[in-house]
Amino acid sequence: MSVNKIAILTSGGDAPGMNACIRAICLAAKHANIKTVGYKHGFNGLLNQEFIDLEPARVYNLIQRGGTILNSARCEKFKQAASIAKAIVHLDENNIDALIVIGGNGSFKGAAQLQNMWNKPVVGVPGTIDNDIAGTDFTIGYHTAIQTAVESIDKVKDTAEAFERIFLVEVMGREAGFIALNSAIASGCDHVLVPERFTSAGEELVKIIDKLDSRRANKKNASHIIIVTENLWPGGLAVLADSLASETGVDVRILTLGHVQRGGSPSSEDRLLATRLGTYAVQCCINDERGMMVAEQRETPMSLPLEISWKEKKALNSYTVDMLDKITLLG
Ligand code: F6P
Repeated sequence: MSVNKIAILTSGGDAPGMNACIRAICLAAKHANIKTVGYKHGFNGLLNQEFIDLEPARVYNLIQRGGTILNSARCEKFKQAASIAKAIVHLDENNIDALIVIGGNGSFKGAAQLQNMWNKPVVGVPGTIDNDIAGTDFTIGYHTAIQTAVESIDKVKDTAEAFERIFLVEVMGREAGFIALNSAIASGCDHVLVPERFTSAGEELVKIIDKLDSRRANKKNASHIIIVTENLWPGGLAVLADSLASETGVDVRILTLGHVQRGGSPSSEDRLLATRLGTYAVQCCINDERGMMVAEQRETPMSLPLEISWKEKKALNSYTVDMLDKITLLG
């Protein structure tokens, strides 16, 4: 099969480095004499025939820019077979020979459904700050998100210290603790709550209070920063804040880092990863690999079935988890 035109779209939560990936795809395709177009607003662009030509000039000065020039969206409609059939008509009308989807596991499900009905390659590139895609060491955007979280946590530590307060800092991750665990370690925080290790609110509360009590009894640092993965504490962080305030008598404040973690210029790790994965995705299209996602293990690119991304649960690094107990300040 000869590939003359590749389409790209970005879908789901945007992640820093998506633009760097678009750029890499566009340049690598040009090198192979292949045209590129970008569909806008995720899978919606396929349904609405909303696309732009991606000439190399269009990706000039793009590697350092956050967000995605193609915009992103979640597309409920794309779960329906009729929508997928319509997308295929549009892809064929536009003479598209392969589609590259940059996104997370929800977007990869859409990509796989499209692949089941289309006889040309659909290739996924893992782009999400959550790092929750099995089979690849890192996803595009994750390193930048940690860096953004760490910069904010460093700042909040100053005010926490001044008032000797407890701060609960909520970070993103959906149902995965990668951002929480690694931003907590990198900013030297007192405690971290991740879904992978969470037992019950009661047990976790006892652990936190034990730690706070022993540190306060020893007159060590009287401020405390606790990093919590979003969607984790039953009833929300205000419930945990109330329990901690009434048990300890200490002022508790909540900081939700939210969508700032998705923004900003991508770190050099994310630019490099995005460039490697984007270039490799073009090769997969040329090789007519179907229903695959590009991945990287120990800096070696590879392609794996898209379905791994939602069938397998990616585990936290066990060395890092064990290390956490060793480097936490003791009572
Ligand atoms: O998947 C990326 C992510 O930022 C998650 O960390 C978060 O739970 C979710 O997207 C937020 O989605 P939205 O932008 O729709 O609020």
